[in-house]
Amino acid sequence: PDLRDLYQELIIDHGRRPRNFGALADANHTAEGFNPLCGDRITLFVKTRDGVIEDVRFEGTGCAISTASASLMSEALKGRTEAEARALFDGFHALVTGHGAADEPPLGKLEVLAGVAEFPTRVKCATLAWHTLLAALRDQSAPVTTEQDEQGGTA
Ligand code: FES
Ligand code: FES
Repeated sequence: PDLRDLYQELIIDHGRRPRNFGALADANHTAEGFNPLCGDRITLFVKTRDGVIEDVRFEGTGCAISTASASLMSEALKGRTEAEARALFDGFHALVTGHGAADEPPLGKLEVLAGVAEFPTRVKCATLAWHTLLAALRDQSAPVTTEQDEQGGTA
């Protein structure tokens, strides 16, 4: 099978059987994300200790892309420092928006979502969890929306 098929399979797998799905009782950071284009919502739970992400879980309703992206993100973040998580955000965001490709840090499995760069509405799906992550790390109480992030850029 070619790479595209493997990528597709991984997205379908994580979309159907999301890892780290469900609330995290001892989270010390949470945030909500909302995609006004479709009405989908995500709640993200992050547990950090001494600046290191020990656990990440999420709940919500979303399409296959947003669910797969949140699932892959949750796996990628464990054991990272908050600074590393922000660097991953930047790299992933550059990849899926097609703006300013970054070669560092290595994105690993997150690269399976590169294809959404061709579909602007799907970019919102793929980045919903990630924008919610930044909101969680800065303890933002208002839901982050994918419209607001278009203007803010770094939302
Ligand atoms: Fe709603 Fe993808 S269609 S997040
Ligand atoms: Fe992140 Fe628009 S999708 S700034």
